This record gives sequence, C-alpha cells and structure tokens, in this order.
Amino acid sequence: MSIVWGTITFMKIFSGTANIALAKKIAESLNIELSQLEIHVFPDQEKRIRVVDVVLEEHCVVVQPTATPADQNYMELFFIVDALKRSGAKAVTVVMPYLGYQRQDHIFRDGEAVSLEVVVKALEASGASRVIALDLHSIKIAEIFNVAISHLSALPLFARQIQKENLIKNAVLISPDMGGIRRIKILSELLGNMPYGCLVKDRDLVTGGIEIKELEIEEAGSVKNKDVIMVDDMISSGGTIVKGAELLKSKGTRNIYVFVTHPIFSQNATVILQESPVEKIFVTDSVLVTADKKFPKLEILSIASMIAEEINKNR
Ligand code: R5P
Repeated sequence: MSIVWGTITFMKIFSGTANIALAKKIAESLNIELSQLEIHVFPDQEKRIRVVDVVLEEHCVVVQPTATPADQNYMELFFIVDALKRSGAKAVTVVMPYLGYQRQDHIFRDGEAVSLEVVVKALEASGASRVIALDLHSIKIAEIFNVAISHLSALPLFARQIQKENLIKNAVLISPDMGGIRRIKILSELLGNMPYGCLVKDRDLVTGGIEIKELEIEEAGSVKNKDVIMVDDMISSGGTIVKGAELLKSKGTRNIYVFVTHPIFSQNATVILQESPVEKIFVTDSVLVTADKKFPKLEILSIASMIAEEINKNR
C-alpha cells in the first residue's frame, strides 16, 4: 500500500459500530488514523450521530457492513453519511463489504417488497457518493445503484489461500447451488482450470428452509475419494453448507474445505458447522465475528488491504 505523505492526504476515514476492527485495519493500510464520531444511544435505542472532526471539503470514507442487526446498522450508516454531508464533506464513500437485504433484490412472490431497493434509495438520499461492495449475492445488484459502485471479490484471496494450504491436488470445487456457478467458474480459472461441479438446492420461498437434492458434476467427474472445496457468498444459518457437506460425504468425498466470503452466522450456525463433516472453514472479516462466534474449524482472512487499495484508486 503506497501513500505518499505530504502530497495527498485529503481523506478521512470513519467507522460505524458494525465492524470497527475492519475499519481500523483499513485505516492502518492507508496509513491514516480513524477519525472521530460521537455515537450516542438513547434509552429507547434511537441513535444520535455527531461528527467531531472537521471534514469541510474533505473526501470521507465510512466503513459499515450491514449484517445483523441489519436495520440498526443501516440506520446508523444513513445518519453518519447525513452528518458528514451536513458538515461539508465533499464526497462520501461507503465501504459496505456486506450489503444487508441483498437476498431481497427482486420479487419472488406477488405482494413482496423489494427491500434491497428501499435501503439503496435511502443510502443515496442520505448523500453517499460511492459504494465499495464485496461479493454481492448476484452481479445484477450493482445495477440497482445510481451512484458509482466498486464490486470487489474475495475469490483471488481464496485462490491464494487454497494454493498456500496445498488443497488443489485431487480436489474438486463445488458450489452449493446453481446461483454460485459463476463464482466457482472464476475460482476454477484462477486455479488453473480446476474441475468443478454444483449441488442442486431447493429453497422454500415461504419459510426459507432448504433441501439439497443432488450433485451435478459433469465437469468434475466423481467426488469419490477426492477432496472438495465448497465455495459460497455467505453462511447464515449454516444449513446450506452442512447439508451440502453431508450429501458430499454420502458420495464418498474425502476432506471438505469451505471458503465463504460473509460469515453472518445466525441462529446456531457456529455449533452445527463445528459438528459438521467439514475439515476447515475459511471466511473473511467483511462481517465481524465476535469471540463467542469463533470455533476451532474457523479461519478468518482479512480483506482490509484489498479495500484500502480500492479506496486509494479514487482519492
Ligand atoms: C443463497 O443463495 C446463498 O448463496 C447462501 O447459500 C445462503 O444464503 C446460505 O444460507 P444458509 O447458511 O442459511 O443456508
């Protein structure tokens, strides 16, 4: 990361409360200190945001992934952006490595809200001028934004880790559903055209419950006596990965490794993942994993330097 002090430093970086650890790492990579915000929570849980630093005519960056609790994190983000704009910030770049509500990007059944569109409109109305996102659930999501958006991916980071851990030999890449096939093809290319395949997953549109039915693996041949690297954009309940791993084991798979960008870890995900037939689970720090959600099979890779590099491109 190269920043030449004395020539260009017109930037301030702020953090909401969702992932301060990541914001600090990004600031460190940029060689600057996190700037001050006053975030006061009233007894009724409403928040009051105040910008302490002077930001007049400055380019400001706000780091705030909007995972659980998505509503609170979004509101906080809107208020931070609004406070920065009202304090005279020239532009506000929002680093949202996890975008809450991204799985509600279109109408699945008549009568539903397009929740993602609502929060994006609110973000733009609050004054955000640019967004940096990571591994969006679908590439079409970027089109919902009217402000500039950089859509980064953790796949190159995963490819490096897979090589470092020497996991390629006699292994097959597997997506747990058809929606992830683009992701798996990119990773396959990054790893010298590794064989890949895909599971077939059915989701109940009312309850959200899933069923993993079969394995489509033309490209990969058989998974019998092979290692499998499962790749997905997020783990929420953990059901997709655990059921997928169980199906793969029933087909004679040897070791299963998992690479997932966003560790949402809702309900008892961490417990069922630790107890699953998976060897190791690699995630990124796009979402903060608190100490109580860490488990022995988990390893967290940092996206901080990748984000810092992207911020630096448009300073
Ligand atoms: C769905 O299409 C996503 O790519 C993930 O597979 C899914 O959101 C994971 O959810 P869960 O961990 O609750 O199965």
